[in-house]
Amino acid sequence: MTHLQPGGQPNQAWRPAGRPVVPPAPGVDPAGVVVMVGAPGAGKTTFIESRWPYWQVVATDRCRLMICDDEKDQSATQDALDLMHALLRARCRRRKLTVVDATNVEREHRAPILHEARVCLLPVVAVLHMPSLQTCLHRNAQRAAYGGHDVPEEIIRRYHAAIRPAEVAEEFDAVRVITDTTDTIYGTVPTELQGTPWTW
Ligand SMILES: Nc1ncnc2c1ncn2[C@@H]1O[C@H](COP(=O)(O)OP(=O)(O)OP(=O)(O)O)[C@@H](O)[C@H]1O
Ligand SMILES: [Mg+2]
Repeated sequence: MTHLQPGGQPNQAWRPAGRPVVPPAPGVDPAGVVVMVGAPGAGKTTFIESRWPYWQVVATDRCRLMICDDEKDQSATQDALDLMHALLRARCRRRKLTVVDATNVEREHRAPILHEARVCLLPVVAVLHMPSLQTCLHRNAQRAAYGGHDVPEEIIRRYHAAIRPAEVAEEFDAVRVITDTTDTIYGTVPTELQGTPWTW
């Protein structure tokens, strides 16, 4: 199946070969919060697009777009975060599986997301996108060349340097870490997330 990427590129389905299939737990409905963490250009949106339908995804970029017609207008960030958290809260209260697409590199940005999941007694896991800085810069440039958004290099450098993998690991029930050469799940896949695209 071919999906179009933000920059118009076809998705080549970058799924790791050989990942063991984790079947759904019998009698358990899928539920929980899956949080992306990673610098701009790291591949968060691409990872999501081949796995979840758009209505299960809450994203700061899309909320900005809905608020002011411009997904990169930073003046709309607070309104976009309020909207994203309201959507997340409403879905969590219904125990609906929700994917959060934002950079989330700072602990204080992850805290309200973790809070929403925890108060609803939902498992919360992360996908930590950690390609090298060079890869992020290259992908950002490629995306811009295909007509997608172009994040200033200095911002990518700052976000990339701000990621603290150990902090992320201690906050979440489990973390999937994707680097340029590895793709590994740390921790135990929560029962409600077994068999969901988080493990693919
Ligand atoms: N695993 C991958 N291998 C090769 N190219 C990739 C991979 N993941 C993403 N890309 C490409 O890199 C570019 C950036 O990816 P994407 O838009 O998903 O990044 P992002 O983390 O969502 O960035 P932002 O925070 O700016 O939204 C896109 O052009 C995408 O097609
Ligand atoms: Mg994105």
